[in-house]
Amino acid sequence: MKYSKKFQTSISALLLGFLFASCISNVEEQLEEQLEETKVSYINSVKPILEARCLSCHGAGGNFPDISSYEKVNAHAASVKEEVASGRMPKGGPLTAAQIKSIVDWVDEGALQN
Ligand code: HEC
Repeated sequence: MKYSKKFQTSISALLLGFLFASCISNVEEQLEEQLEETKVSYINSVKPILEARCLSCHGAGGNFPDISSYEKVNAHAASVKEEVASGRMPKGGPLTAAQIKSIVDWVDEGALQN
């Protein structure tokens, strides 16, 4: 069977188009993954700060708000951010600039359970 030159050209163009489209979507996926990875992690960054500097006063049965679990921190994320950014919390000694940035960025990124 003989295909016309024109038909062959359109098939090649179609295949190239597919290849190109799949490359683009791969690049997009990789970029999204990288963005995810650069987000502040609750488990690795925020939780350890809260445990070390907040829970002695804000654990279960302590001062309001109780921020001893992800769900509870998430429910008070805006005021946690505000208290930390303003330097009002923690009582008894400031966080480092890097610790403050971690908490503020984490809240700004949507207070994810990450
Ligand atoms: C030494 C005890 C102590 C520590 C440590 C502490 N807090 Fe507090 N926090 C309090 C008390 C007491 C209050 C009640 C309001 C006040 O007295 O200022 C409070 C209030 C708050 C509030 C509510 C503010 C409002 O009025 O809406 C938030 C949010 C908060 N703290 C977050 C934190 C975070 C986050 C940390 C750790 C980075 C922290 N606190 C560390 C004692 C503490």
